[in-house]
Amino acid sequence: MTLTFDIRPSTSPTSDQERATRLANPGFGRVFTDHMAVVQYSQDKGWHSARVESRANFPLDPAAAVLHYAQEIFEGLKAYKRDDGGVNLFRPDANAKRFWNSAERMAMAQLPPEVFIEAVERLVQIDRAWIPGGEGSLYLRPFMIANEVFLGVKPSAEYIFAVIASPVGSYFKGGPAPVSIWVSENYTRAAVGGTGGVKCGGNYAASLKAQAEAIAHGCDQVVFLDAIERRYVEELGGMNVFFVFDDGSLSTPPLGTILPGITRDSIIKLARDAGREVREEAYSIDQWRADAKSGKLKEAFACGTAAVISPIGKVCSASGDVLINGGEAGPVAMGLRKQLVDIQYGRSPDPHSWIRDV
Ligand code: COI
Repeated sequence: MTLTFDIRPSTSPTSDQERATRLANPGFGRVFTDHMAVVQYSQDKGWHSARVESRANFPLDPAAAVLHYAQEIFEGLKAYKRDDGGVNLFRPDANAKRFWNSAERMAMAQLPPEVFIEAVERLVQIDRAWIPGGEGSLYLRPFMIANEVFLGVKPSAEYIFAVIASPVGSYFKGGPAPVSIWVSENYTRAAVGGTGGVKCGGNYAASLKAQAEAIAHGCDQVVFLDAIERRYVEELGGMNVFFVFDDGSLSTPPLGTILPGITRDSIIKLARDAGREVREEAYSIDQWRADAKSGKLKEAFACGTAAVISPIGKVCSASGDVLINGGEAGPVAMGLRKQLVDIQYGRSPDPHSWIRDV
């Protein structure tokens, strides 16, 4: 499908000096660029009005469906500044495909992947001065909301797809320093047949109470267990999880009720390329604790677009705390992190053709 994007540069862009100030220490998700990409959908017109314009509020009727029944999906991907001044996008095709699948599950209009990718690329092109140097990146947030004005419970007949961009540093305040994890015993994230396997806002809304519990216990992230037996590790509040064992193998929870993370998939491929065994298998919290204590488990780490790869130093719960690798970052997590970011920044070859030069 071809849509022509109408490019309307901002008439009052941020000054170079102000942009430099905001880029100096962007943190995560609070600084935004000057533009956004927007494409609209209605049942009679299909996808239409593709444009890149000044970032601005949406006019949204108080009866817009998203405000009542939460038909909303999103993605997260990053643009990286290369040493030669060029810009890399990492696996935007995978995000476009997952967005398509998320829309299908949420009974929303499905955006053709090529339009998704073009919207992202056009925004990166117009806002490329906002990509931080060094280890920073431009976090891109494509999302779609239902905006039909109707209070009946049914799939909306109208949607707004948009992409916004935010220069970012590290997701966690401590950078790649080990994070601590709180095991949620009171809440679950997803059930079989539910929406755990797609990227809809509701999954994250439902995680916030458990995440608040984690923070109240001095932890960085919550880890959810399965909804049936309440013992198998699923994923963290906003990232997937991996385990590294004393025989050099890795394991990660299987797909189904968890988010099919693109970083997760990339790590599986990189580890297998290096000759490591990677199992996608259920792993219980009791086994996690026992293996950490016996030394069979060498490392654990969280991963996601925002988190990249963050070592897990401590698992905490009502029944006590367990240190992983003495609470230190381990060599496998840090090695995979380096390998991944070197590909993303174009510092090493890209054997799986994951990079798109923008
Ligand atoms: C991402 O990693 O891109 C996400 O969407 C997760 C969120 C916690 C920022």
